[in-house]
Parts: sequence; structure tokens; C-alpha cells
Amino acid sequence: MTIDLRSDTVTRPTAAMRAAMAAAEVGDDVFGDDPTVNALQARVAAELGKEAALFMPTGTQSNLCALMSHCQRGDEYLVGQMAHTYRWEAGGAAVLGSIQPQPLAQAADGTMALADIEAAIKPDDAHFAVTRLLALENTWGGQVLPPAYVQAATALAHGRGLATHLDGARLFNAAVASGVAAAELARPFDSVSICFSKGLGAPAGSALAGSRDFIARAHRIRKMLGGGLRQAGVLAAAALYALDHHVERLAEDHAHARRLAEGLAGLPGVTVLPPQSNIVFVDLDPARAAGVVERLRARGLLCTGLYRLRLVTHLDVGAADIAAALTILRETL
Ligand SMILES: Cc1ncc(COP(=O)(O)O)c(C=O)c1O
Repeated sequence: MTIDLRSDTVTRPTAAMRAAMAAAEVGDDVFGDDPTVNALQARVAAELGKEAALFMPTGTQSNLCALMSHCQRGDEYLVGQMAHTYRWEAGGAAVLGSIQPQPLAQAADGTMALADIEAAIKPDDAHFAVTRLLALENTWGGQVLPPAYVQAATALAHGRGLATHLDGARLFNAAVASGVAAAELARPFDSVSICFSKGLGAPAGSALAGSRDFIARAHRIRKMLGGGLRQAGVLAAAALYALDHHVERLAEDHAHARRLAEGLAGLPGVTVLPPQSNIVFVDLDPARAAGVVERLRARGLLCTGLYRLRLVTHLDVGAADIAAALTILRETL
């Protein structure tokens, strides 16, 4: 038996989700004809409190459409040094959007110092790129961004004429973990990207939400990037199913993450960061870390990391898997 804690992207669609996909009414979404895609877009806009939303193949494309919709060629966006849009999306903003990233240092909780944000906004001077956008990410490494920080950072950006984008790949994890509605977490941002293919358990799909004008621009950019899908209703049906059935249950994943953290606490040479949602980070002293991912794999537990292991709970791991994972971890570490 293998227990796969590498990511919450490894989930497979459940039988009920597959049934919803098979039953989906579809049409050619490039013509705007897919009723299931249209229903999903309306639902996402309503859930996130925005005027409009657009179905996207992936979170990467959704973030890139957002950046390109906010920024023109030669503009700049402010972003965390370790943020997904900057570090883990193959440099798409620069390569495909000609947008200059201005990465800023982040504290352990994902926040950037407000003074650093302020100082990075370039003056109106021909030497500089035009700073156009601030991008944040929630959850950040499984942690909910501090609400006071989100308010302060977005207010600072808006006050200086910048737009704001949220990479909310795991926004529903943040909502469930904090007990604050997704629309409330989305409110300070001009645009928000969410993913259905992570904790929500769909096989593919993301969505971008914002104003009607913003989404109209993103729609053209999505086409340009090759993201105009045809009978995408089969995927939108999975996303709708996930919104109906897989949001509240994220609390189970969070409880499993806490269970893992509690079970590992106190092991010598092992430091566990208390999880807020579904991601557990485990720091190992170097003596224990050598080959640990391979040793865990040999015992049937898949995870990622080097000195810091990353264990992600999700729809396809139950309480018994967590107990078994703990036994393997304790014996191996
Ligand atoms: C925070 C964050 N943003 C964006 C993405 C990109 O999503 P996708 O893999 O669908 O392109 C991911 C994927 O892991 C992510 O973790």
C-alpha cells in the first residue's frame, strides 16, 4: 500500500464526481456555448464576490492571464521571493507577458514588510518600469495570511494606484481553516485565482475572478495562451461537484495534518511546524535527513523535501492512512 502525501494534486476524481462529469451538458466554450462552464463561472463569481469569472485549464495559466490582464508589456509587479507566480511558474510573466517581476523577501508567515512594498513602488520617472500590481498568495505554505497584513498591504497598493491579485490556489483551505468566507478573503483583491485540482479534488481546472472588464481582457489572453477549451463542461462539472461536496470536508484534511504534527512532536532531531491547513512541514537535523525521502518511499510513504519534509493531506488519505504514515515516519526518522 502506498500513502501519497506529496501534494493535494494527486487525488483522483471520486465515482460521484466522475458521474457528474459524465452527465454534464456541454457545448463549445470558445463560442460561449457550454452551459456547465457558464454555470461554474457564475457560481465562482458569486462565491468570490466578483462581477465575473473565467474557467481556466490550470492555476499557472490563470495567474498568468491575471498578470497580463493587469499589466502591459514593460510594467512591473511586486511579488514574494518564494511566491508561486514568481518562482514556480517557469517565469511566464517575464517570458510571455514581458512583465518585470520585482520579488521581495518574505517572512516565515509569507508576509512582505510593508516598508519593502512601499520602497519597491517605482517613482514616475523614465528610468523605471511602471509598478502596476501587487500579488499575494493565500494559503501561503499551508498558512492563512494574517488578515491585518492583507488589509494593510492591499490598502497600501491601492493607495499608490496599484492593482492587487491573489493567487488563491488554496483559498478554500484558508476559508475553512479561518472560518472566514472565501468572498471575504477575496474582497481586498481586484482579482483572485482559485484551483479546483488541489484540495477540492477535481482532475483539472482553475478559475479567475474579477471585474467584468478585467475578465474580458483575461478571456482574450487565455485564447492567446492556448487556453480556449471546447467541451470543457466535463471539467467544469467536476469543479461544480467539488464546490458542492468537497469544501467543508477540507476540515478533515486539516485535522489529519494536525494529527500528523502531533504524532511527530517530540521526536529527537525533528521539528514540526504547527499546520494551519493541510500542509505539514517537518525540519530534520542533517544527521537524520540523508536519503530520508527515499527511505520513506521504500516503506510506502511518498512525500517531498530535503532537510524540510513536506507532507500534504487530501481527499485520498483517510484516518487509517494517517496512522500508518505516522508509524512509518516514527520508525524511519
Ligand atoms: C500556490 C499555487 N499557485 C498556483 C499553482 C499552479 O497550479 P497548476 O498546477 O494548476 O498550474 C499551484 C500549484 O501547485 C500552487 O500551489
